[in-house]
Amino acid sequence: MPTSRQVQLVRRPTGAPTAADFALVTVDVPPPAEGEVTVRNSLVSLDPYMRSRLYSAPGYAEPYPLHAALSGDAVGTVVASRAAHLPEGTLVRSTHGWRESFTAPAAEVERLTTAGLAPADHLGPLGLPGEAAYVGLFVVAGIRPGETVYVSAAAGAVGSVAGQLAKLHGCRVVGSAGSEEKVEWLLDELGFDEAFDHSDGDLEVELAIAAPDGVDVYFDNVGGAHLRAALGAMNPFGRAVLCGAMSQYGPDRFGVDNLALVVARRLRLEGFLVQDHAAHRDAFTELVAGHLAAGRLTTRETVVAGLENAPAAFLELFTSGGHTGKVLVDVSGVDGPGDGRPMADAAVN
Ligand SMILES: NC(=O)c1ccc[n+]([C@@H]2O[C@H](COP(=O)([O-])OP(=O)(O)OC[C@H]3O[C@@H](n4cnc5c(N)ncnc54)[C@H](OP(=O)(O)O)[C@@H]3O)[C@@H](O)[C@H]2O)c1
Repeated sequence: MPTSRQVQLVRRPTGAPTAADFALVTVDVPPPAEGEVTVRNSLVSLDPYMRSRLYSAPGYAEPYPLHAALSGDAVGTVVASRAAHLPEGTLVRSTHGWRESFTAPAAEVERLTTAGLAPADHLGPLGLPGEAAYVGLFVVAGIRPGETVYVSAAAGAVGSVAGQLAKLHGCRVVGSAGSEEKVEWLLDELGFDEAFDHSDGDLEVELAIAAPDGVDVYFDNVGGAHLRAALGAMNPFGRAVLCGAMSQYGPDRFGVDNLALVVARRLRLEGFLVQDHAAHRDAFTELVAGHLAAGRLTTRETVVAGLENAPAAFLELFTSGGHTGKVLVDVSGVDGPGDGRPMADAAVN
C-alpha cells in the first residue's frame, strides 16, 4: 500500500511550543473507496492560528488531537479518484495539510481554478490570509478612498495583501515590518506610500513621521506595543481592526495603557474571524482573483522544502524579521520514511 509522511503532535507544549512537540510519522494511504479521492499534496500552508490549537484549552478552533496528523490548508493534485467530478490530475485545496498524501471523501476537497493563477495563490491571497485582509478592510473597517490605512506585520501573508488592497481602493497606505529588506519590498514592489522598520527606533515616532496627518484605519496583526502606538496616531472616528496579535501569542504580554483615547477620539476597535464572514467569500474571491489575473497584486512566498522542516518553519512564524510573505512547505519531493520520534528541540518565546 502507498504510504505518506505526516507531522503529528505528540505532546502538548507546556510553555512555548518546541520542535520536540512534533514527530514525523509514516502512515498507509488506502486506495479511494466509492466517492473518495487520493490527493498528493504539493504545498502545505503554515499559519499562526495553528499555535493555539497545540494546547488543550478550548479556543475558537478545536485543539489538535494528539498522535494524529495536524490539519491545515494545502494544495495538491488528485492522483486516484472514485468521484466522477474530480478526475485524476485535478488541482484541489483541502484542510488535509501537514502531510504528503491522503485519501478522503470528495466533499472534503475543493476543485481549484488554474487559469492565470499559481497553486500558491490559493493558500495566500486567495486563501485564509487574503480573506482576512479583505474582511478586515472592507467588511469590518469599511475603508474609504483617501483614508490613511496603517498595517502592521505588513510584509506578512495577511499584511502584504491588506496593504495592496487598501492601495488599490484609493487609500494612503503605511506599513511596518521587521527588517530594512521588508521595508524596501513594501515601498519598491508593493506600492506602499510609507513604510518603516519597527525593530529600528521608536514606534510612536516612526508612525508620526510616516503618517503625519494621522491614521484613519489601523489593520492590527501584531497587538501589544504596536496597537498602543497605532491608537496614539489615530484620527477621530478611526477604526482599529484587530486581525491578530503576533506579539502576544507567547508568555510575554504587553499592557496597552492608552485605551482612554478610544473615548476621546471616538474610536472603534473590532476583532474579527474570517470564519464568521463566509457570506463575503464570493465577493472576496472575485475581487482578489481579478487583481491577480490583471497583475495588480504582487505576491511573495517563503517556501521551505520537505515536511521534515515544517515544525521549525512553523515556529519561526512567531519571530520578527525572518520570512517574507506567505510561508509554505513544498512537500512534492520524495524522501525517506518518518521515524515517529519527537523532532530535534527548538523553541520560540
Ligand atoms: N482574524 C482572522 O480570521 C485571521 C486570519 C488569518 C490570520 N490572522 C492573523 O493575522 C496575523 C498575520 O498572519 P499572517 O498569516 O500574515 O502571518 P505571517 O505571514 O506569519 O506574518 C507574521 C509576521 O508577524 C511579525 N511578527 C512575528 N512575531 C512578532 C512579534 N513578536 N512582534 C512583532 N511582530 C512579529 C513578523 O513580521 P516582521 O518581521 O515584519 O515583524 C512575521 O513575519 C496573525 O496575527 C494571525 O493570527 C487572523
